[in-house]
Amino acid sequence: MTGQQSCERGGFGSRVGFVLAAAGSAIGLGNVWRFPYTAGQHGGAAFVLIYLVCVAAICVPVLFAELAIGRATRRNPVGAFKALAPGSRWFVVGGLGVLTGFAILAFYSVVAGWTLGYLGKALLGAFAEPLTHEQSVAMFEQIEGAGIVPVLLTGAFLLLTALVVRGGVEAGIERAAKILMPIFFLLLVAMAIRAMTLEGAGEGISFFLKPDLSKIDGGVFMGALGQAFFSLSLGMGAMITYGSYLGANERMPGAAVSVAVADTTIAVLAGLIIFPTLFAAGGDPSAGPGLVFVTLPTVFGKLPAGFLFAIAFYSLLVIAALTSTVSLLEVVVCYFVDERGWKRERATWLVTLGCFLLAIPSALSGTFLDWQSIIFGNYALTIGAMLICLFVGWVWGVPAAVEEIGRGGAVFPLAAAWGVIVRWVAPVAIAAVLIYIVATGNYM
Ligand code: TRP
Repeated sequence: MTGQQSCERGGFGSRVGFVLAAAGSAIGLGNVWRFPYTAGQHGGAAFVLIYLVCVAAICVPVLFAELAIGRATRRNPVGAFKALAPGSRWFVVGGLGVLTGFAILAFYSVVAGWTLGYLGKALLGAFAEPLTHEQSVAMFEQIEGAGIVPVLLTGAFLLLTALVVRGGVEAGIERAAKILMPIFFLLLVAMAIRAMTLEGAGEGISFFLKPDLSKIDGGVFMGALGQAFFSLSLGMGAMITYGSYLGANERMPGAAVSVAVADTTIAVLAGLIIFPTLFAAGGDPSAGPGLVFVTLPTVFGKLPAGFLFAIAFYSLLVIAALTSTVSLLEVVVCYFVDERGWKRERATWLVTLGCFLLAIPSALSGTFLDWQSIIFGNYALTIGAMLICLFVGWVWGVPAAVEEIGRGGAVFPLAAAWGVIVRWVAPVAIAAVLIYIVATGNYM
């Protein structure tokens, strides 16, 4: 266990510290960028409905499972599986998770780089006047389609991430998150109110909230399931790592549910901003990864002090993205430090460099980014989550996991239901969706 010390973060014994770190990981571009555009591609409200069902019925139980593995072992994902199933091959699941985290970081940092580009634009006063949809499309192309610019922005964002991870996560960024996240939330509420009162917003609200059940197909299930895992940072061991920060006497179930509720609320708020604004301005909801970046600039000019609002909004989005990229890089770095005996400094820089190289094709091509996001953000996480459930349900065992979840005097009234979900419902549901997708060839 000595190697583990090097991955430990100072000052995270408390439940508040854990909730902050885990919520910081969960809340990010997945909520504000990926959720709305995925919902837009999958027919809106029907997707949202399935998404909410997936979060409550499958993802929250998986969150409990990952946190339990983490707290019981206090190890990185590979070490955790080794500790709970010595001599078996289950550690490979942890290894796949580390690889997935690396690949997710590579496309996530490209999008985070765009956010940085928009912050630059905001600081230069680009949002003082309301932009038309066409002007906003042109601005997005300046940032996203301009060859070297997105590559440099990606590099800059990875550098920021590395600087945080290099020293271990400082209490500073977490303390900042404690103040900044509520402000972010209030800004989102203000923007949602403005968006929903725009002329022509009604159509956007019903697109997002009034489900057309005929739109539900295998692709909607796969998209919603993958997005739910992505948004809660599940399926690759990030929450195993964060679970290891949770003190033995802290009550886990309440903390885990708070994280899931906060994450879902922010995603829904983002949808309530994007779709009314988009329909009011006359855009296409299935536009894909550029959707949010094109839509938001058309609303800033319509807000009081829109110029300052834009600066505040993009600053906070950068910080939300940073607390997520930190969690991704931390998992990979922690693996190299713990399992391979690398120095933290060396691990941080080598992983960051490798990630930057893998990010370049995504920075240059939207298609490559799309594929990365589908393969790793949807499929790898979903398969990872299924394996984690099978491991906890059948190898480590429900009784041991339930004991871990209830440690510190926590009430876990749904323990029996949880056991059934982890052993049967989640693996079978996930397998059914995967088989259906393969059988129908409807991969996206
Ligand atoms: N959940 C984050 C978001 O919504 C992204 C993220 C951070 C993530 N760490 C992760 C996704 C681990 C999957 C796995 O923006």
